Formats: sequence, C-alpha cells, structure tokens
Amino acid sequence: MTTRMKIGATSLLFVLCLSAVSLLLNLCCLSLLKPCEVPVKPRRSFLDNGVGLTPPMGWNSWNRFQCNVDEELIKATADALVSTGLAKLGYKYVNIDDCWGERRRDPQGNLVANATSFPSGMAALGDYIHGLGLKFGIYSSAGTGTCCETMPGSLGHEQQDANTFASWGVDYLKYDNCVDPYTSPIIRYKTMSEALNNTGRPIFYNICVKNDMQPAIWGANIGNSWRTTEDIHDNWDRMLYIADMNEFYADYAQPGGWNDPDMLEVGNGGMTYSEYLVHFSIWAISKAPLILGCDLRKLSNETLNIVGNIEVIAVNQDHLGIQAKKVRNFGRHEVWAGPLSGNRVVVLFVNRKRKSMTIPALWVDIGILDNVPHRARDLWQHEDLQTTFQGNMTMTLSGRSCKMFVLTPLS
Ligand code: GLA
Repeated sequence: MTTRMKIGATSLLFVLCLSAVSLLLNLCCLSLLKPCEVPVKPRRSFLDNGVGLTPPMGWNSWNRFQCNVDEELIKATADALVSTGLAKLGYKYVNIDDCWGERRRDPQGNLVANATSFPSGMAALGDYIHGLGLKFGIYSSAGTGTCCETMPGSLGHEQQDANTFASWGVDYLKYDNCVDPYTSPIIRYKTMSEALNNTGRPIFYNICVKNDMQPAIWGANIGNSWRTTEDIHDNWDRMLYIADMNEFYADYAQPGGWNDPDMLEVGNGGMTYSEYLVHFSIWAISKAPLILGCDLRKLSNETLNIVGNIEVIAVNQDHLGIQAKKVRNFGRHEVWAGPLSGNRVVVLFVNRKRKSMTIPALWVDIGILDNVPHRARDLWQHEDLQTTFQGNMTMTLSGRSCKMFVLTPLS
C-alpha cells in the first residue's frame, strides 16, 4: 500500500466513525420521542468581540430626528429609557446617528463633537449614558464624509477614529457607506473592524452597507450586524417591502451577527396601531436589532404596549438566534415561523389585505411533526388558548393585522 493510499484509507475510516457518532446521536433524539433541539452554530468570527449574542436593543436618533441632534436630546432619551422601564426590558444602546461632529477634524486629525450641539463633548455624554447603566453608540462612514455630508467620514483614519471612539466609551458603531471612493466595501469595512478590535474595547459593529453590496454574504466575519435593505420609511408598504427583502437573507443570521432591516418606526405616526404591531412582530421574529426610532420623551401608552411587550421581546432575544422565515405565502396573507429554544416554535400570521382573512398554518409548513399536539400562547393577548392544536391551526385576522403565537409540544 502506498503512503497516499494509507492516508486515503485513514481519512475514510475517520469519516465513517464521524457518521456513526452522528447517527447514534440522532437515534438518541428519536428514542426520546422529541425533535432534537437545533444546536447553536459556533460562531467563527474575525471580529471575535463577544458582543451581540442576541440582537442589540436600544434607540437611534435618525428615524425621528435626522440631523436635529444635541446632547440635551440624547440625555433626555437616555433618561426616558430608564423611566419608562424600557431599559430593564433590554433596550440599552443610546445611539447618535449622523451630524454629531464638526465639519473638520482638529489639527491632530481627530474627529470632534459639534461645539454647538454637543458642548460638553462625547466623553462626558458617554459617562452620562453609562451612569444610567446604558450603552453608548455613535455613527461614522467608510468614506471621506457621512451620508449627510455634514462631517468627515473615517476612511483613511480608521485606527485613529476607533481609538477616539474607544476613549469616549463608545459601545456601538453604526458604520455607513457614503462619500466612498467606489472601491469594494469589504476591504474598507474590514479595516474598521480590525481597528475596533485593536482598541481592546468590545464595540458592537453595525455594517450599514445597502443591499446592492449584499453585506449579509460577507459581513459575518467582520461585523455584528449588517443592513439587508434600503432605508425604512414610516409607512406600511415600505415597511413590508423591507421585511420581505430581509427575509431573503434569513439563513445568515446567527448569535453574534444579525441581519439588519433598519431601525423601528413604531411610534412615529405614519402607521396605525395594528400596522405597527405587524412591524414590531416581524422585526422580533426576524431576530432584527430592536432599535427604537421614535421620540422617547413623549412615548404614548400605545407605543409602550407594543415595544414593551416582554413576550415578543423574549422571542427576539431567544438564545438559539434563528431567524424566522415566511413559510407559506397565500399572496397578500402569509405565515411566518421559526424555531425557539425548548423545542418551541414561534408562528406569526400576517394579513396584508384591508379586509379580514382566514389563514391556516400547517404543521408541515412550520416544521413540526403532524402528529404532535401543541398548546399555543398568544403573545399579543397574553393568554394561553384553551384548545390544543395538531396538524394545523387556523386564525381569522382583521385587515392589516397579525397574530403571534408560541407553540409548545404537549409530549
Ligand atoms: C443612511 C442610513 C440611515 C442614516 C443616514 C444618515 O441613509 O441608511 O440610516 O444613518 O444615512 O445620514
């Protein structure tokens, strides 16, 4: 036998042993008569920063305030996160978007906070936010300017800016892709990723590259989340369009790296209560970052009821980190579903039409065995349904609404 043949035979034996072990494990699961829980995929990441094991939760200034940001707004928002109880539910990041800086760097080449709107400086603001037990997020761009072109971007200054952010106590960087030199974003985003890593401070890294560059495909080794879509707008059609685009990339989401269909519009006034329920529900089951985008200083009870739903948040934060998918599309009404820990499944019925519809969810579609009965918990009504379900469940939904359930097997 030649050496090459010996190596071949050894490899074959190794593969056969592995297959046997895997078969045994599967048989064990079957003998327990319960479906095997999907193991969390180990994350092999270039950016091994230990953050984002569940989707990030917090607030960002852009959707509601665009360039009208200042330190009073940011401090009051941080206060509101605490006083409304949202911080306790997990909303920790207080993120300033575009327009926070001076037009020019200082003589040493450092980014500088705008002297009029942030007179106390970013380190002091970071201290204030941390003092409330929250986390501090900031924004820059992988080009020579930011998207509003009111301040410099970080291209060519990545390490210097990463050091600056770390010295301010920044915990989250949203890194946009404007005023860029039309070179591949992969290199530019990797450079900032390495720079953040070099600071030694764990900083959640959001890759804000729009869909045409498909960051879902290359982002996991570089960042903790990546945009999958164009910008959201505060209306029903745009929100659903964004949700659909994001769903396409479902398989790329995992603990440590998440698809980002953009920030929440709940509470900004462009949709009805029922439409916002659909918006929040889809974002939650899609394991999207739950980054609020409304004015938290004037939070209505309606909005608080939606974004403060502890059961829906728990689905988003489930440690398996598997993004739900659209498993049945009847045209303008559909069923979304995805696995949760503990052999549970989350199911979302969505009616996009204006008139009411009756929608069936089949076990075969949502990935559970046809002969296993399940009990259902309604996450918006906060109640267990009296009947149990086997094979399917069918719901009647009013126009532009959703119903969301967690199914738990009875045996
Ligand atoms: C881009 C981003 C937005 C926001 C603006 C700021 O459009 O997608 O989320 O950050 O830039 O200029």
